[in-house]
Amino acid sequence: MNKIYKWGIMGPGTIAHKFANDLKLLPNAQLYAIGSRSLERAGKFASRYDAEKAYGSYEELAKDPEVDIVYIATHHVYHYPNTLLCLNNGKAVLCEKPLAINQKQCSVMLETARKNKLFFMEALWTRFIPSFHKCKELVENGSIGGIKLIVSDFCFKAKFDKDGRLFNPMLGGGSLLDIGLYPVFLALELAGVPLDIEAFASIGETRVDEICSIQFKHTNGIISVLFGSLVSNGRTESIIHGTKGLIRINSQWHTPSSVDLIRGDEKPLHYSFDEPGFGYQYEAEEVMKCIDNGVLESSLFGWQKSLDLISTLDKIREKAGIYYPSDVESL
Ligand SMILES: NC(=O)c1ccc[n+]([C@@H]2O[C@H](COP(=O)([O-])OP(=O)(O)OC[C@H]3O[C@@H](n4cnc5c(N)ncnc54)[C@H](OP(=O)(O)O)[C@@H]3O)[C@@H](O)[C@H]2O)c1
Repeated sequence: MNKIYKWGIMGPGTIAHKFANDLKLLPNAQLYAIGSRSLERAGKFASRYDAEKAYGSYEELAKDPEVDIVYIATHHVYHYPNTLLCLNNGKAVLCEKPLAINQKQCSVMLETARKNKLFFMEALWTRFIPSFHKCKELVENGSIGGIKLIVSDFCFKAKFDKDGRLFNPMLGGGSLLDIGLYPVFLALELAGVPLDIEAFASIGETRVDEICSIQFKHTNGIISVLFGSLVSNGRTESIIHGTKGLIRINSQWHTPSSVDLIRGDEKPLHYSFDEPGFGYQYEAEEVMKCIDNGVLESSLFGWQKSLDLISTLDKIREKAGIYYPSDVESL
C-alpha cells in the first residue's frame, strides 16, 4: 500500500484554502499541520480542514518530525526564507509560484534541496492539469503542424490596495510575477527559452508593474506575444497558432478549462474536462508520486524549468524596468 503523506501548510491565506480543499481528494494525502504567524489563524484553518496540529509560528511547523511535505503559500518575498527553513529541517517542499523573486534566490533554494537530498517543486499547477496535458498532446502529436505564434494573456482588474500583496513592492507585487508568469511559462513550455526578449511595463503609483507586455523570439522563428494586467479585465486565453491550425485553451486558460482544436474547414474539436476540485490536486499528486519513486524533482516541471522561468522573468524585468528591494539584498 502507498504511504500516506502528512502535509503541512505554511501561510493559511486565500490559495491555501483552495489547496487544502483539493488535498482531500487524494487518498494518500493527509493535511496534518498548519503553520501561521498567528496561532488563532492556524487553529481556525486546522479545524476547518480537520488538520491535527496548529502552530503559531512557521518554525514549529518546519520542526514537527511528523510532517513529510510542506506546501508554502506565503507571499512571493517569503518563499525564499520559508523554503530554506523547511529544507533545512528535512522537509520536502511544494512552494507557490513564483518560486523566488529572482534567479539568485532560486539557485540557493535549488542547491539547498540538492544538498539535503529533498524533493522540491514550484507549485506551477497549470503544468499538471488535464487541459494543459491535452494542449501538450495536441502540439506533440502534430495536430497543428509546427508552432508559429503563441498569444497568451492573464488579465483581471484587481481591487487596489497599496499595502496588499498585488500592489506592494515590499511583498513582490506587480502583474509579471503574479500573473504574467503564466503566459511566460506557456511560451517556455511550448517553444523553449527565448533567444530574444522585448518587454514594456506600465508602472503604477506604488511603483509596481500594473501591466506588462512581452514578446519573445524563439528558435525556428516562433514568436510569442504575452501580457498580463492587474488593472483591466481581459480574456485570459491562450492561442497556439501552427502551420496546420490552432489550439485555443479557453478562458481561464491557466485553470482546468477546455481546449479547442481548429483546423481549416474541418469541424472544430472541443475537449472539456469535468474534474472535481479547483485543480490543485494534480500538483500535490505529482509531489507524492515523485517521492514514492525516490526522485528529488518532477520530470514534468523540474528544477531546470523553474530556473529557466525565473531567469526569463529576470530578463523581462530588466527590459521593462521592474525592480524590487529584494534584488539588492544579500542572500
Ligand atoms: N497557484 C495559484 O493559483 C495561486 C493563486 C493565488 C496565489 N498564489 C500564490 O500564493 C501565494 C500567496 O497568495 P495568497 O493570495 O494566498 O495570499 P494571502 O491570501 O495574502 O495569504 C498569504 C499568507 O501569507 C502569510 N504571511 C506571511 N507573512 C506575511 C506578511 N508579512 N503579511 C501578510 N501575510 C503574510 C499569511 O499567513 P499568516 O500570517 O497566517 O501566517 C497569509 O495568510 C503568492 O505567492 C501567490 O503567487 C497562487
